[in-house]
Amino acid sequence: MSLHRLASITIGVPNPEPVRSFYRDFGLVEAAPGRFESADGGEQLAIVAATRRQLLALTVGVDDADDLARVASSLSRLGVASERAERALCATEPATGVRVELVVEPRVAQKPLPQLATNGPGREVRVDARSPAALAAAPARPRKLGHVVVGSTDAAWSRRFFVDGIGFRVSDEAPAIGASFMRCSTDHHNLLVQSAPVPFLHHTAWEMDDVDAVGRAAAAMVAADPSRHVWGLGRHGIGSNYFWYLRDPAGNFAEYSSDLDVIADDEAWRVAASSGAHPLAAWGPPVPSSFLAPEDIVAMARGEQSS
Ligand SMILES: [Fe+2]
Repeated sequence: MSLHRLASITIGVPNPEPVRSFYRDFGLVEAAPGRFESADGGEQLAIVAATRRQLLALTVGVDDADDLARVASSLSRLGVASERAERALCATEPATGVRVELVVEPRVAQKPLPQLATNGPGREVRVDARSPAALAAAPARPRKLGHVVVGSTDAAWSRRFFVDGIGFRVSDEAPAIGASFMRCSTDHHNLLVQSAPVPFLHHTAWEMDDVDAVGRAAAAMVAADPSRHVWGLGRHGIGSNYFWYLRDPAGNFAEYSSDLDVIADDEAWRVAASSGAHPLAAWGPPVPSSFLAPEDIVAMARGEQSS
């Protein structure tokens, strides 16, 4: 796969200051004003001023300049213009208005995390010792940006842009929310586009070490401000990852995630369509209605500003 990672995103919000404060608490490092780094992914989030909350841009890492030429011609076949530089290509996805940049950059190799010794029936591997997970006191930090979910006024067209134009692969489908899970790396999904009356950012997801790191980080965020809690702890049915969603002060959801499915061999993976009353969760609390239909969407569709 020539696309190899979701490198970074830019989020626009009406009032950046409290949102920046939220992502500092979330565990990202603000290396420069409004620019945030994850532990393994480098600078992956920019927060800038905008009239309403929305995803303004996303950057995808690619292997070489041949990938840029291939994407330029694919976009051209869709009737989408692109701008080419020596090591980058830019195009705007028309339905969401998201500016997509492809950049030639090296692949990021994450250092393997030591396996946590966990006991189970007939499997006593941690004996005469307390679990480090129960003793950990340091704040858990996001390792890297995992995925981003956006609403589109024409989700079918957005899907064509990203799959047929940019080269994302479809991992699974969720007909209940009219969405496709798409990847530009070995992660099960890096992008999901769902139908909405106005383009908006539904959530970003950030990879954590494990479920304990998800729980520890989210619990600390909620202890500091209970109104941040949205949905969790649970395990998704699609992508298999543990999740806990919080809300930033602009209304964007931010997900701590771990143990996502990895797809290394396209031929070995079978795309499936999920079904059931709550297709998003294998287990967890009931999905809040505000997660499926964020409360400010109607106001944003009317052109009123979010906070
Ligand atoms: Fe997610």
